[in-house]
Amino acid sequence: MKKIIIAVDGPSSSGKSTIAKTIAKRMGYRYVDTGAMYRAVALYALRNRLSNEELLAELDKIVISFALQPDGSQHTLLNGEDVEQQIRTLEVGNMASQVSPIKEVRAYLVAQQQAMGKEKGIVMDGRDIGTVVFPQAELKLFITASLEVRTRRRYDELIGKGQNPVYDEVAKDLADRDYRDTHRAESPLRQAEDAIRYDNSDKTIDEQMEDYLRLINERIG
Ligand code: DC
Repeated sequence: MKKIIIAVDGPSSSGKSTIAKTIAKRMGYRYVDTGAMYRAVALYALRNRLSNEELLAELDKIVISFALQPDGSQHTLLNGEDVEQQIRTLEVGNMASQVSPIKEVRAYLVAQQQAMGKEKGIVMDGRDIGTVVFPQAELKLFITASLEVRTRRRYDELIGKGQNPVYDEVAKDLADRDYRDTHRAESPLRQAEDAIRYDNSDKTIDEQMEDYLRLINERIG
């Protein structure tokens, strides 16, 4: 069967990674979480207390890879070390949003992401996959949900992790992140012209999957 590239973009907590992972599993495709790559670079900068300039000088020392787990999930490796837990903190998330606007950081990671797509059969999620990484992707999804729904999802996720979030702070954090993601000079979050916009505010995963699989089958022919 013909293999394609599926680009999944959208704002924070739109549910895009859940969707991208589910699609990859159903299709037997490789899944790549590009946000994890920016987070791994951020963790490296934090651990070594690097300024932006120092980070650029050390970029080629940062090797990011993914290790498939027995349960089918993937863990992010930084220079061979499993950092899956460490990259998911708020601190690293904030640092990632500081290092991700840097042109050289993006060029370094985008080249690796493009190499991963050479064989196709890949689902990649991020902010610039349909616009910059794979402008030629056969299917581009732009996943959104209302700020209210995204806040609720993020809030529940933090509770699930045993944290003690304040709803209004979570909402503000998401709104700030949206602003930064969409207003930065380098590869801002925006919908590619040929992307399909999908608002999943009122949809279950199963309902969404039905729609996505139909679109995929159309592309595969
Ligand atoms: O999706 P996430 O929260 O794991 O992303 C972490 C940060 O990296 C966030 O600030 C957005 C940024 N990012 C990006 O600029 N480009 C991507 N392709 C993926 C993430």
